[in-house]
Amino acid sequence: MADQAFVTLATNDSYAKGAMVLAQSLRSHGTSRKLAALIGPHVSEPSRAVLRKLYDEVRVVDLMDSGDDAHLALMKRPDLGVTFTKLHCWTLTHYSKCVFMDADTLVLCNIDDLFERAELSAAPDPGWPDCFNSGVFVFLPSIDTHRALLNFCTEHGSFDGGDQGVLNGFFSNWATADISKHLPFIYNLSSIAIYTYLPAFKQYGHQAKVVHFLGKVKPWDYVYDVSQRSVKGQAQDPELQPNFLLQWWEIFSSIHPLLKEEYSDQPFNTGITQEGFHGGAGCGATGPPPMPPLPEMSSQERKQRWEQGQVDYLGIDAFSNIERKLDSFLN
Ligand code: UDP
Ligand code: GLC
Ligand code: MN
Repeated sequence: MADQAFVTLATNDSYAKGAMVLAQSLRSHGTSRKLAALIGPHVSEPSRAVLRKLYDEVRVVDLMDSGDDAHLALMKRPDLGVTFTKLHCWTLTHYSKCVFMDADTLVLCNIDDLFERAELSAAPDPGWPDCFNSGVFVFLPSIDTHRALLNFCTEHGSFDGGDQGVLNGFFSNWATADISKHLPFIYNLSSIAIYTYLPAFKQYGHQAKVVHFLGKVKPWDYVYDVSQRSVKGQAQDPELQPNFLLQWWEIFSSIHPLLKEEYSDQPFNTGITQEGFHGGAGCGATGPPPMPPLPEMSSQERKQRWEQGQVDYLGIDAFSNIERKLDSFLN
C-alpha cells in the first residue's frame, strides 16, 4: 500500500502542531499507508524537522489564497482564504489514491478502510448537509484534475471563499449521484455537532473514528495542565465523554520531547512549565514567554497577510514583536 497516503496541510507553525498530532494518531492506530504533509514556506525549520520525523514525506508548496474577503467575512473566518493551497494535494501523483485530512482532525481508530472508497468521498457538512465537509475526503491525485480545479477557481471562485466552496462546486453531484461517496459522519465528527445535537452524540459518539475541531478556536489555543491532566478554560461537561480535546493534548504532550529537541538552540519556549504547557508561544505561568522564532518573510508579505486577516497573534505578530519594532523606530 506504499502508493496510497494520508495527506494534510499546514501553512504555519500553529497548524503544524495539529499536523503533528494527526500523524501520531494515525500511526498509533497502525495505519499501513504513507503519511504526507504539504507545508507552506513560512513553516519554521524546527517544526519542519519534527514533521519530517512523523511524516514519510514533507513537501513545501506555494501558498494559494482566494483573497475573497467578502465570502470569508460571511463565515467570520478571514484566515481561510489560504485553504485554496489544499488543492495542491491533487499534484501528489506518485500516489494512486489519497485521503486528505485537515490538520485540526484527530484519528481515534484505524481508518485505512477509507481507501476502499472512490473520489470524491466525504462526509456531510454539519452546517449544510447537502454540502460535504472538506476536512476529510478521499481523492485521486491527477494533474488534469488539479488543472481543472484551478480553472474552476478562476472561473467560478468559491462560495465560501475557501476550498470547501470550490470543491463542492466542482464535485457538484456529490449530494445526489452515489451514496457510497457519502462517508458516515463518524469519519468526520465536527466538534460543533456535539453541542448542536447532543442526544445524537450521546447515542452514536462512541463510534466516532475521526474528530474534527472545526471552528475558530483550535486545540493548540488552549493551555494544558500536565499535573491535573486537564485542559484549562474548557467547560468540562461530564456528558461529553470521551473528552476529545484532552486526547489531543495527551498526544501533543507525547510529541513534546521531539519539539524540545528541535527547538533546543532557538529562542523559543515550546511551552513547558511545571504547571503545564501551552500550544502557543508559551504560557505565562513563569513570567512573559520568550520570543518565538521569526520566520523569514518580507515585510511586504507580512503586511499582505495582516491585511488578509492572517494574524499570527502568538508568533510573529505577537504584541511583543510589534513593540520591539516600534522601539526600533523610536530609537
Ligand atoms: N490551514 C492552514 N493554514 C491556515 C488555515 C488553514 O494550513 O492558516 C489548513 C489546515 O490543514 C486546516 C485546513 O486548512 O486544518 C482548514 O482550515 P480550518 O481547519 O481552520 O477550517 P475549519 O475546519 O475550522 O473550517
Ligand atoms: C470548512 C472545512 C475546512 C475548509 C473551510 C474553508 O469548514 O472544515 O476544511 O478549509 O471550510 O472552505
Ligand atoms: Mn478543519
